[in-house]
Amino acid sequence: MTSASPEASGSVTPAVEIAGLTKRFGGLTAVSDIDIEVAERRIHGILGPNGAGKTTVLNMISGFIAPDDGSISVFGHEVTRIPPHRIARHGVARTYQNIRLFAGMTVLETVVAGAYLRRSSTIGGTLLLSPGERRERRRVREQAHSILEQVGVRSAHDELAETLSYGDQRRVEIARALATDPKVLLLDEPTAGMNDAESHEIGQLLLELRESGLTLILIEHNMRLVEGFCESVSVMNSGVMLAQGTPGWCLEQDDVREAYFGKRSDAARIATLRRARRGSGGS
Ligand SMILES: Nc1ncnc2c1ncn2[C@@H]1O[C@H](COP(=O)(O)OP(=O)(O)OP(=O)(O)O)[C@@H](O)[C@H]1O
Ligand SMILES: [Mg+2]
Repeated sequence: MTSASPEASGSVTPAVEIAGLTKRFGGLTAVSDIDIEVAERRIHGILGPNGAGKTTVLNMISGFIAPDDGSISVFGHEVTRIPPHRIARHGVARTYQNIRLFAGMTVLETVVAGAYLRRSSTIGGTLLLSPGERRERRRVREQAHSILEQVGVRSAHDELAETLSYGDQRRVEIARALATDPKVLLLDEPTAGMNDAESHEIGQLLLELRESGLTLILIEHNMRLVEGFCESVSVMNSGVMLAQGTPGWCLEQDDVREAYFGKRSDAARIATLRRARRGSGGS
């Protein structure tokens, strides 16, 4: 049975609402009857050990995988089983666990391409550019530069995106997603491969984005980031929901600790360590 923290609050108009979501791959039920409600302008984490079904949930919200059962709504619009480009029009953008940058494109071109995903004109455009079109292209490029700076890619905008460090490639992916002007941003392990300082910068970026009106749903293994920046979390294991609520509350639940740390004895030991670390101000 799913635990729900007393602090968990319902919302009148959730940004994202999923109900009874289920996905089977052959004999494996990767996601089983999952409900998640994320209020607008919230930073919500999806947690769970490897293979819990987290990416599969994100793949269904963004339309990359069709669920076998259940429903997904974005700002009250049912988007279950509609293709990714149409879900994008509802303001949903995402990044990937395994970075997927376009080969042969510079950092700037990658973000500009993101911007054009939601525009009526195409990058190829007309051969004879009207002054208006020229101005628009200049505006899109300037905006791409400023989004890149916002996410922390302050140089190298003219280098091939694939040559950057993993951390910067992840930032470029976030910038590409932001260039679509989303209302909901889905991030699959945005800090993978980053050190503590870089992860903290991503946390700060999440706060800024939320401040500017975005709703953020992120899959994250870095508990420091989760506890520092997520207001609510859903914890999954083997396709089922274990607990939902504040990070602090969820991570104290026995079955959550057991899913993460194995035997209850290990869980108790690690919980004691965490408390001790907090007590010494090192959490
Ligand atoms: N396309 C697929 N075909 C078959 N099985 C899949 C597919 N995608 C995921 N799975 C399986 O579904 C389960 C959940 O996978 P998922 O990638 O959603 O887990 P996850 O929680 O994101 O794990 P991780 O933390 O390792 O990224 C796993 O057992 C995985 O092997
Ligand atoms: Mg995953």
